[in-house]
Amino acid sequence: MKYFEKEKLELIKSKISNIQNLNILELGVQKGNSTNMFLEICNQNDGYLTSIDIKNCSTVSADKRWKFIHSSDNNFEYVDKFIANKQFDVLFIDSYHEPNHVREIFYHYFYYLKKTGIIFIDDVVWLPYVRNGVEDNNFIERINRLTFDKLLEIFNNNIENLTLDINFRGSGLAILTKIGEKLNKEKKIKNRLFTIKNLIKRFIYSPKPKN
Ligand SMILES: C[S@@+](CC[C@H](N)C(=O)[O-])C[C@H]1O[C@@H](n2cnc3c(N)ncnc32)[C@H](O)[C@@H]1O
Repeated sequence: MKYFEKEKLELIKSKISNIQNLNILELGVQKGNSTNMFLEICNQNDGYLTSIDIKNCSTVSADKRWKFIHSSDNNFEYVDKFIANKQFDVLFIDSYHEPNHVREIFYHYFYYLKKTGIIFIDDVVWLPYVRNGVEDNNFIERINRLTFDKLLEIFNNNIENLTLDINFRGSGLAILTKIGEKLNKEKKIKNRLFTIKNLIKRFIYSPKPKN
């Protein structure tokens, strides 16, 4: 299993194992680490898991509480036919880790979540991947940073609709709760650190906090 992955699955489990009759939607199955963890909870709590993967992962489990959809998770026309009447308690996003893709599927599947539903998004932290970091990797550093920034932009314009916590272990896990019915479009966050005024301040003197 990947860097800190087991710990993150345990964290997810601890957040959802008290929900009875839960309905889970999982995006990204691969060898089934998260799938099997979710199925364990479904069997304990009389729940049901629907999973989507672009590759055929149908042999990962024969559990009767599992429905596998072989499709890209942004092929909404196809996927929606299977989930049209469903309302999920949990959404797990662990498929194609590209910021615009994460944004697209987040906005789509948000409307399939119950109010107070929980959304987990894997791989949103870049710290292990920076130069000379434990997992030094230019591509993943960049893509995880961009996904993190995108999440902040979504959250920043939706504070009445979402809560957001980030777990920084390993490649990170975002934990969001749906508290509103609809989502506003994300909004760019203006960064004042690089304004001329602040750059001058930084090089001429160190600002002291006001009392
Ligand atoms: C990181 S793995 C999932 C790991 C799994 N959740 C676990 O905990 O073991 C990512 C998976 O997403 C799938 N994937 C990639 N792009 C996808 C897409 N657009 N739609 C659905 N699945 C996709 C890949 O085939 C791969 O199986």
